[in-house]
Amino acid sequence: MQPMAILLCLLFLLGINPGHASLSKDKPCKRLVLHLHDVLLNGTANEAEATSAVVANQTALGAYKFGKFVVFDDPVTADESLASPPVARAQGFYFYDMKTDYNAWFAFTLVFNSTRHTGTISIMGADLMMMDTRDLSVVGGTGDFFMARGVATVSTEAASLYYFRVKMEVKLYECH
Ligand SMILES: *[C@@H]1O[C@H](CO)[C@@H](O)[C@H](O)[C@H]1NC(C)=O
Ligand SMILES: *[C@@H]1O[C@H](CO)[C@@H](O)[C@H](O)[C@H]1NC(C)=O
Ligand SMILES: *[C@@H]1O[C@H](CO)[C@@H](O)[C@H](O)[C@H]1NC(C)=O
Repeated sequence: MQPMAILLCLLFLLGINPGHASLSKDKPCKRLVLHLHDVLLNGTANEAEATSAVVANQTALGAYKFGKFVVFDDPVTADESLASPPVARAQGFYFYDMKTDYNAWFAFTLVFNSTRHTGTISIMGADLMMMDTRDLSVVGGTGDFFMARGVATVSTEAASLYYFRVKMEVKLYECH
């Protein structure tokens, strides 16, 4: 056997994949900065603008909305303005899941259907709301984002009773 082949066999046996040896947090193969706007339905007061709704109300456990479940189909824009044309939609759900503080669990898909991008990026993970920035997992993708994997770093830019906006920095470390 050639020395190179022997080395590759050794690396394989040790579970080291030379292709991933250089994977660095600071060097994604693709990076997107997006803003997600969520307008929660408030009775019938904002039906025209609302893009999310409570499906199940909170339980009596704790004082942080434990169990409250919300489904959304939110516009995602390239800048901070809700009035800007959406570049994607974020479709999914979240629920509150902590007894002693606000904490939610998100699962959603960014759906792109524009001249710039078509395809999807699926994201899920814990939204530890007390942290300034939270990392969610990019678990997959389709179309322009075929087989995507990476991290979506989220921070809250605005929050009131029936509206929130988060900045999302989507960093992909697998691009095909
Ligand atoms: C929710 O709707 C009610 C009317 O049904 C209104 O009085 C109230 O101000 C609304 N709350 C917010 C935060 O917009
Ligand atoms: C949801 O639960 C909260 C707290 O128990 C209560 O104040 C509110 O009225 C409930 N909302 C609905 C739609 O039942
Ligand atoms: C994507 O956009 C095209 C052209 O505007 C439209 O025909 C199609 O229905 C859209 N697909 C989805 C999944 O929104």
